[in-house]
Amino acid sequence: MADIKVSLHDAQMEIFKSPARFKVVAAGRRFGKSRLAAWVLLIKALQSKSKDVFYVGPTFQQSKDIMWGMLKELGQDVIKAAHENTAVLTLVNDRKIYLKGSDRPDTLRGVGLEYVVLDEYASMKPEVWEMILRPTLADVKGGAMFIGTPAGKNHFYKLYIEAQQDDDWEAFQFNSTDNPLLDPKEIAAAKSTMSTQAFRQEFEATFESFTGGIFKEEWIKYVDNEADFAEGTIGHYVVAVDPAGFEQSSKDRGLKSSKLDETAISVVKIVNDEWLVKDIYHGRWGIKETAFKILQAAIESQATTVGIEAGALKNAIMPYLEDEMRTHGRWVNITDVTHGGKRKIDRITWSLQGRLEHGKIKFRKASWNDHFISQMMDFPSPLSHDDLLDSLAYIDQVSVADYAGSIELEDWEPMDAIAGY
Ligand SMILES: Nc1ncnc2c1ncn2[C@@H]1O[C@H](COP(=O)(O)OP(=O)(O)OP(=O)(O)O)[C@@H](O)[C@H]1O
Ligand SMILES: [Mg+2]
Repeated sequence: MADIKVSLHDAQMEIFKSPARFKVVAAGRRFGKSRLAAWVLLIKALQSKSKDVFYVGPTFQQSKDIMWGMLKELGQDVIKAAHENTAVLTLVNDRKIYLKGSDRPDTLRGVGLEYVVLDEYASMKPEVWEMILRPTLADVKGGAMFIGTPAGKNHFYKLYIEAQQDDDWEAFQFNSTDNPLLDPKEIAAAKSTMSTQAFRQEFEATFESFTGGIFKEEWIKYVDNEADFAEGTIGHYVVAVDPAGFEQSSKDRGLKSSKLDETAISVVKIVNDEWLVKDIYHGRWGIKETAFKILQAAIESQATTVGIEAGALKNAIMPYLEDEMRTHGRWVNITDVTHGGKRKIDRITWSLQGRLEHGKIKFRKASWNDHFISQMMDFPSPLSHDDLLDSLAYIDQVSVADYAGSIELEDWEPMDAIAGY
């Protein structure tokens, strides 16, 4: 075999040396999953008598971004040719390493393989393995490694459990901190902004089920001093709006309004990495009235940005909002906030859970507090509303934390010095 020296940390080495034909590896962020994958591919390809190996990432682009440079660097002494466009490496023994994306299943079919690595398996469709890749290993009894950070109790979890019961299979679980090269500061920073549950998943590779009891009442913290909201103190205001359907006429308002969605307008002061929630206006209003309330909230607080959930309701309200702005001679910066294809439950959980748990959100004592807390305690029940939570969660997208007060300057080095230019 060509001359190549594998360099792995202890935990990676334990996985590498296991003789199991199929390995399922749940490991925290930055553990060194991708780097282990790169070494496995190089060695499997160098040892292979006839067949090639695949690296499969969630998308082809991601595979290239993650793997191409790493493979070329680690394999520089054993690579004969590198074809950039197709992302194929030919090694000195004429075996090939193909980079692939699970988003293009048609490109995964048909060839016999020696080995396949599925990186970030939790975010792939399970059919990619079951229907397409598994059969390609049959010819030479090839092997596979599934590696990733867990994402709830999904197909990756199922495979991880099954792997513990089958002789050909082995399951591994490692923390991010098992990578001795990882800077502990990076972990500490993540820990301070994430919920305990999310942190465990991402850094300790546990399979969490994010259901029920997402928020705790004791996480509600109030701003002690109303003066913190005053003008001239540090921080800046932003506004986020989750619009609901508009009332046609005052007659509609007699309907059981508690059953209907409300528009919610969150007014939040961003101070360093904290959110001070000044108001959450909510109600069912006509379209013109809604526009007026949004503008009023923005003007009163001198908000730098107003984020409104993109979609038909925003489109409907924009002309009215522009009208109001013209009438009042006041212009505010309106921007889109979007659900980004995420489920609402996930979006609310991810932007609020960690911050609340760590006391990074504080509320002004006001009449809407009870309404907010009741939505928070019911969440994510399909039977109750979450408009107030939703609008507050959107603050995430309009706030740019200003850390000006908290940067430790002695830690800061110009990039040039690091790069050595
Ligand atoms: N054995 C090793 N020797 C030197 N550096 C390593 C080793 N393993 C990992 N690293 C470094 O640690 C960092 C994380 O590695 P890698 O990208 O492989 O981790 P990952 O678990 O795939 O991360 P992510 O969760 O971000 O996908 C990288 O900077 C990588 O170069
Ligand atoms: Mg990776």
